[in-house]
Amino acid sequence: MASSRPERQAPPEIYYNEEEAKKYTSNSRMIEIQQQLSERAVELLALPDDVPCFILDVGCGSGLSGECLTEQGHTWVGVDISRPMLDVAVERSAEGDLIHEDMGYGIPFRPGTFDGVISISALQWLCNADKKFHNPPKRLHKFFSTLYASMARGSRAVFQLYPENSRQLELITQQSMKAGFTGGLVVDYPNSTKAKKMYLCLFTGGAPQQLPQALGTGTERNENQIAFSDKRERLRNARGKSLKRSRDWIIEKKERRRRQGKQVRADTKYTGRKRGPKF
Ligand SMILES: C[S@@+](CC[C@H](N)C(=O)[O-])C[C@H]1O[C@@H](n2cnc3c(N)ncnc32)[C@H](O)[C@@H]1O
Repeated sequence: MASSRPERQAPPEIYYNEEEAKKYTSNSRMIEIQQQLSERAVELLALPDDVPCFILDVGCGSGLSGECLTEQGHTWVGVDISRPMLDVAVERSAEGDLIHEDMGYGIPFRPGTFDGVISISALQWLCNADKKFHNPPKRLHKFFSTLYASMARGSRAVFQLYPENSRQLELITQQSMKAGFTGGLVVDYPNSTKAKKMYLCLFTGGAPQQLPQALGTGTERNENQIAFSDKRERLRNARGKSLKRSRDWIIEKKERRRRQGKQVRADTKYTGRKRGPKF
């Protein structure tokens, strides 16, 4: 149910308060899930064997995802907006350097710093406008363009994410492409409601790279990779906006007006439908 999503309840720096940060990191089921997601994300990074790398963990929280990097011999830096989550990471003796920072303001590192980037269950938060001046497409663009610059050419960024709907996913992928990334989505266990997991695998320039295989697809052909579309499509979508007067465009416009406190009719299945000519 959409309303039970943390992203719907409060901005991340408020939702992940002291109580939630402690609860999050003392729940053994949660720890197990985050560890599995992190291991898979690191696998999808396809780092060179036995070479310690320098990795960025975006939305590192209490360091559960970072632990997996440490275990595999990598050095990491974590960025998170919630001070209480970072405090728990310190209490748990996380080995990475921790930075208190809103990813929507961009990634403040020198060009080419990272050999890879992971982010577990965090990116969808950027689709929300929690403050009056927040503009999700602009925040996503700032994030992706600075991230791209901070990564070594030929490296990968893997985001495990929980988009609320297809519009969020489209917004995220459009903005990542606009920033110069290639790649696409890998959907593991697509036929299981519980096990299904989505990973956005992004590549910086360098030699062409193939999208990794999804798990649990049950088919030889990998139908659960969705590579980014061609350049023409990319250019058409480059501004991160939906086509004018399409259903998505109308819904976005209505959401914008609601945020401005204006009275707007509820969305229905008829919103944005094609209408016949007026006589
Ligand atoms: C579900 S937790 C995941 C934490 C960690 N990656 C893990 O696997 O345990 C999501 C994290 O994303 C962080 N987050 C959300 N929005 C953020 C933003 N704009 N900038 C930085 N971190 C953010 C939250 O504070 C929270 O710690």
